[in-house]
Amino acid sequence: MQTTLTTSAAEAAAILNAGGVVAFPTETVYGLGASICHTEAIKQIFRAKGRPGDNPLIVHIATVEQLADVVTEITPDAARLIERFFPGPLTLVLRKHPRVPEMVTAGLQTVGIRCPSHAVAREFLRLAKCAVAAPSANLSGLPSATNWEAVYHDLNGKIDAVLRGTPSAIGLESTIVDCSCPTPLLLRAGAITLEQLQEVVPNITVATKAEQASAPKSPGLKYPHYAPKATIILYHAGEIPATTASSASIGFAEAPTGVTLHKQCATLDEYGHELFSFFRRCDAEGIATIFCELPSNEGLGRAIRDRLMRAAGHD
Ligand code: TXA
Ligand code: MG
Repeated sequence: MQTTLTTSAAEAAAILNAGGVVAFPTETVYGLGASICHTEAIKQIFRAKGRPGDNPLIVHIATVEQLADVVTEITPDAARLIERFFPGPLTLVLRKHPRVPEMVTAGLQTVGIRCPSHAVAREFLRLAKCAVAAPSANLSGLPSATNWEAVYHDLNGKIDAVLRGTPSAIGLESTIVDCSCPTPLLLRAGAITLEQLQEVVPNITVATKAEQASAPKSPGLKYPHYAPKATIILYHAGEIPATTASSASIGFAEAPTGVTLHKQCATLDEYGHELFSFFRRCDAEGIATIFCELPSNEGLGRAIRDRLMRAAGHD
């Protein structure tokens, strides 16, 4: 398959509306989109990524009004979260509308819905005739793609087009909150922090590892994720890791002696923005071990820790 590279949202949407599979930029990470009206295209997403069929896809909408097309009920908690955080890096799990194919939700009666804030994503979604099912645009198990080059590296020849945009501003996947249960449940940490969510839904609970791993809560979270080929070794602030040959490091600290590559981040935002692209750069340079400083669990630190723990296989 020939993969078209374009910077035109209109061209990308035309390919999508014709049943194509199209990667597009968002503020979190790049998505790999198919129209929910084209089941063959949805199948192609799973094939192109090598994604297990029991891992549901998030459905993306251009406007809050479109929610009525894809869910049957907006709970009061969901309404408050939508009011405060849509459009943005938040996915809400709600009861699905029969219009959403079961292939998208992997047979679940709930669906994850996201309305991105990224201008190019919104233009693309506005021009799409139906809502757009889209997982992250990477090969299954690899770090999410935060720039179009990473998408192209993983999926060239397997998808119809890449809508080229700038690197994703956040660099970590959206926060996921399940609102289909009586008490909102944080399934995946992201740029909308637990502290911000608690201001709107004070009774929100954090899914335990067991809850995350058990279907039907968030099936995808049971798979190994976000992992580069290199071995990940985590360390806490103040500890100086004993580095090995062919190693790299990322965190707030200065470069430990002996590393080939180092990324020093000034803020949590920068750490989140850089993490996946740094993993990919290390793989491209054949780095064997990456030492990663674990931030504290506050704010965006929760999401970064979550991705680091998964990448290190501590989940
Ligand atoms: O930021 C993001 O969320 C990006 C961009 C493209 O929007 N998308 C993304 O998709 O990260 P993906 O497929 O890589 O991760 C989606 C996660 C998976 O862990 C999946 O299991 C979970 O969302 N999920 C999807 N639908 C669900 C549902 N109905 N109930 C529970 N979890 C669900
Ligand atoms: Mg993913």
